Amino acid sequence: MSRDFLFLLGTTRPGGNTEALARLAAEQLPADVGQTWLRLDEHVGEPFRDVRHEGDGVYPAPLGGQCRLLEATLAATDLVIASPLYWFTVSASVKAYLDHWSAWMRVPGVGFRDRMAGKTMWAVTAHTAKDLAEVEPMLGTLRLVADYMGMRWGGELLAYGNRPGEAVAAPDVAVRAQNLFEVQPVAC
Ligand SMILES: Cc1cc2nc3c(=O)[nH]c(=O)nc-3n(C[C@H](O)[C@H](O)[C@H](O)COP(=O)(O)O)c2cc1C
Repeated sequence: MSRDFLFLLGTTRPGGNTEALARLAAEQLPADVGQTWLRLDEHVGEPFRDVRHEGDGVYPAPLGGQCRLLEATLAATDLVIASPLYWFTVSASVKAYLDHWSAWMRVPGVGFRDRMAGKTMWAVTAHTAKDLAEVEPMLGTLRLVADYMGMRWGGELLAYGNRPGEAVAAPDVAVRAQNLFEVQPVAC
C-alpha cells in the first residue's frame, strides 16, 4: 500500500522548532511516499460548536479551509501532528482541528470514523521540559485520540528547544529525526 503523509503544523511561528523538526524527519521519507503540509491556523476556521443534541444532530459538510483539512485528512494514510508543547498539551490549533473531528463524524455520507480507522498518527514536538514526564499529557491525549478512532500510533519525536533553531541543533536530534519514519511496513 502506498503511503501518504499529512503534516499538520500546529505551530504559531512558522520556521520554529516544531516545524524544523518535522521537516528534518520528513527528509527521510522515500520519494514514493506522498507529503502534504498544512498549517492548521490557516485552516481550522470557526471554532467547533457542539450541536449533537439539537435537532437531528447532523452537521453540514465543512467549507473552505475546514473542507481542505477534511479532504487531506481522509486522503492520508499517516497524520503527523506537529505541535509545540503549550501548557503541557497540544497547541490551540491542534485542539481545534481534533474538535472538528466530532463534527466530521456526523456529516452525512462521509463515513469519517470508518475511514480514519487503520491510519497511523505520529507526533512531533518541541518543548522546554527538563523532565519528559511533562510531555506525557500531550502524548497521552494524542495516543488516546488515535486509539478512540481505531488508528495506530506510529511514534513521536520530542526535542528540547526554546528559541527557533535550538531543537534541531541538539546533537542527538538529527539521528532521532532521521529514524522517526523508518517504520516497518503496515501489517495487513
Ligand atoms: C504559550 C506557550 C506555552 C508553553 N508551554 C510549555 C509547556 O507547558 N512546557 C514546555 O516544556 N514548554 C512550553 N512552552 C515552550 C515551547 O514549547 C517551546 O518554546 C517550543 O520550542 C516552541 O515551539 P516552536 O518553536 O515550534 O514554536 C510554551 C511556549 C508558549 C509560547
